[in-house]
Amino acid sequence: MKFLKIKILQISLVFILEKLVSTEWITKMSSYFDTVFFENTILIHEFSTPSRLKCIQKCILFETTCQFLQFTLGKRCELYSSIQKEIFNGNVDIYLRDKKLPRIHFLNGSFLDRLQIFNMAKVSFNLSRNGINQIVPLAFATSNKTETLDLSFNNLTILYSKSFYGMINLKTLDLSFNQISQFESDVFKENSSLAFLHLENNFLKYLNGNIFDNLQWLRLLNLECNQIEVLDTNTFKNLKNIRKIYLGNNNLKSLDPFFHNLELLSLLDISFNKIKTVHKDAFMSRHNLSDILISNNQISEINSETFKGVNYLEKLDLSSNRIQKIDVNFTSNFPNLKELHMSNNNLSFIETRFFNGLEKLEILKLYNCNIRNIDLNSLKNLKVLHLGANKITLFSQNLSSLTELLLTGNPLGNLTYPLISSQNSNLDVLGISNCKLEYIDFDILKNLTNLRTLGITGNQLVFNNETFNGFRNLENVYIDQYYANKFKTVFPNIRFSIL
Ligand SMILES: *[C@@H]1O[C@H](CO)[C@@H](O)[C@H](O)[C@H]1NC(C)=O
Ligand SMILES: *[C@@H]1O[C@H](CO)[C@@H](O)[C@H](O)[C@H]1NC(C)=O
Ligand SMILES: *[C@@H]1O[C@H](CO)[C@@H](O)[C@H](O)[C@H]1NC(C)=O
Ligand SMILES: *[C@@H]1O[C@H](CO)[C@@H](O)[C@H](O)[C@H]1NC(C)=O
Ligand SMILES: *[C@@H]1O[C@H](CO)[C@@H](O)[C@H](O)[C@H]1NC(C)=O
Ligand SMILES: *[C@@H]1O[C@H](CO)[C@@H](O)[C@H](O)[C@H]1NC(C)=O
Ligand SMILES: *[C@@H]1O[C@H](CO)[C@@H](O)[C@H](O)[C@H]1NC(C)=O
Ligand SMILES: *[C@@H]1O[C@H](CO)[C@@H](O)[C@H](O)[C@H]1NC(C)=O
Ligand SMILES: *[C@@H]1O[C@H](CO)[C@@H](O)[C@H](O)[C@H]1NC(C)=O
Ligand SMILES: *[C@@H]1O[C@H](CO)[C@@H](O)[C@H](O)[C@H]1NC(C)=O
Ligand SMILES: *[C@@H]1O[C@H](CO)[C@@H](O)[C@H](O)[C@H]1NC(C)=O
Ligand SMILES: *[C@@H]1O[C@H](CO)[C@@H](O)[C@H](O)[C@H]1NC(C)=O
Repeated sequence: MKFLKIKILQISLVFILEKLVSTEWITKMSSYFDTVFFENTILIHEFSTPSRLKCIQKCILFETTCQFLQFTLGKRCELYSSIQKEIFNGNVDIYLRDKKLPRIHFLNGSFLDRLQIFNMAKVSFNLSRNGINQIVPLAFATSNKTETLDLSFNNLTILYSKSFYGMINLKTLDLSFNQISQFESDVFKENSSLAFLHLENNFLKYLNGNIFDNLQWLRLLNLECNQIEVLDTNTFKNLKNIRKIYLGNNNLKSLDPFFHNLELLSLLDISFNKIKTVHKDAFMSRHNLSDILISNNQISEINSETFKGVNYLEKLDLSSNRIQKIDVNFTSNFPNLKELHMSNNNLSFIETRFFNGLEKLEILKLYNCNIRNIDLNSLKNLKVLHLGANKITLFSQNLSSLTELLLTGNPLGNLTYPLISSQNSNLDVLGISNCKLEYIDFDILKNLTNLRTLGITGNQLVFNNETFNGFRNLENVYIDQYYANKFKTVFPNIRFSIL
């Protein structure tokens, strides 16, 4: 038993500490109990006595200061407020006054008691980067004014229940960048007005299904960068006001119906997990999701049931998955989609009509998707199109709203036809670097009268002193070193640079 402790004494006498009746537990330390050790050993009192009970009584008289005592049988009593691990090592005479005193402890051995905390507490209370390693229950019980408590970048490993008891006005709690791996089940149980809860960058593996039950006012929950493998389908069930849930960078393997009846949920970020399957009822019930970010997972198939029920979807990020199959009717479920990211998937199979019906689409990113042919003529509102690193040999589309087109790294060969076939083009940025271009009819590019930025490096083109005459708005050109140097003086109104 690694954390074996032997309880030797429980004094339930009347100890009135700031109007709270407190029970004292004194336990003999018999093995490592990591969370109680500190960087410094601080001795607060020592005296001779043959009686262990006298030593314990003296410790208790020190109200909030005495945390450890060492009693050498029949002789000496030493009282400490903190001890180092090295001091304890192998020492069988040290006793721990258990964590009942409402304080916050620092790694270095010092602590703040509740009165000190009360005196420091402000509406916005910032304890970030202080080496805090323990919050004892009720430590903040009198900090009832505080609305924002920043405990980020500390060294908390466990959150005890009642850690935030009494913080009736707390709206924002930031516990990010600690080493929390464990919650006591009712740590967030008090009737809480908490709206923003940051738990990102901790060591959480598992969340007790009831942990968030009382947070009915929560609007944002950030659990990014933990090690969560499994979620209980009830974990979020009471978060009636939740708007944004961040679960990125965890180890989730499937997307199950975790979000039932969260009617106000608008953003779900579950990218960088290990999700293979999206349960067909994952989003069945009523909700208002507009953004689903599920990139960098292992999804291989998107059928017409995937994301069923997400009727108002505006942004979908499916990039960096392993998509091998997409139902051609999938997009018809999302008439409001404005942004679609599917880069880094093998979409060689994709059918033309997949993009039909995405009337409102403004941003489409299909970088590195093994695409040869694509027809986007129906995307009347498309503004940004990234098609780099595909196998497109011919691109000519009626995309009059387009402002940014990246075709970098496609084998376009020669460019003798308009890239944008509509009369007026709004194109502002064009990337055709590394496109195996040997010849360009520059009048085609000059016809893009709004073009300001052009990337054209890494081709086999020959440019001359006339090439960049006649562009109306061109400002930036990314070009090979040789020409960048050469053209600086020839075309003083254009900034030439290498990428
Ligand atoms: C707390 O202080 C840190 C700097 O120590 C700062 O980065 C952080 O934004 C502050 N938190 C709040 C809530 O103001
Ligand atoms: C311990 O750390 C806290 C928080 O950083 C600091 O306020 C305190 O002065 C330190 N105490 C000692 C004894 O080093
Ligand atoms: C906050 O605590 C103080 C002192 O403990 C008390 O006087 C005050 O009424 C409390 N305020 C609220 C809103 O509960
Ligand atoms: C304490 O936390 C800080 C900030 O997260 C971290 O850099 C540091 O390594 C931690 N120290 C220990 C002893 O865990
Ligand atoms: C929680 O709040 C509700 C309404 O604000 C109130 O009716 C209920 O009694 C509170 N419960 C507790 C345990 O404070
Ligand atoms: C759902 O979202 C839409 C658009 O974001 C918004 O207009 C509507 O009010 C939301 N519905 C609810 C119930 O919040
Ligand atoms: C797609 O929808 C069309 C009509 O909307 C239907 O005829 C066709 O069977 C559907 N295809 C699939 C694979 O569901
Ligand atoms: C992409 O998928 C096609 C079949 O759809 C397959 O023939 C091809 O080898 C795949 N390419 C890569 C790079 O995985
Ligand atoms: C391009 O699309 C516009 C509508 O956005 C349409 O009016 C025009 O006729 C189309 N042009 C060509 C050449 O298809
Ligand atoms: C591309 O243009 C070059 C130079 O005009 C020409 O020699 C070559 O045959 C053309 N290649 C193709 C595939 O049209
Ligand atoms: C450039 O635009 C003009 C007017 O719209 C058109 O007549 C001409 O054919 C275009 N040139 C090229 C090379 O596309
Ligand atoms: C291009 O312009 C530069 C600088 O004006 C000049 O030195 C050079 O001779 C010109 N080259 C040709 C081929 O006209």
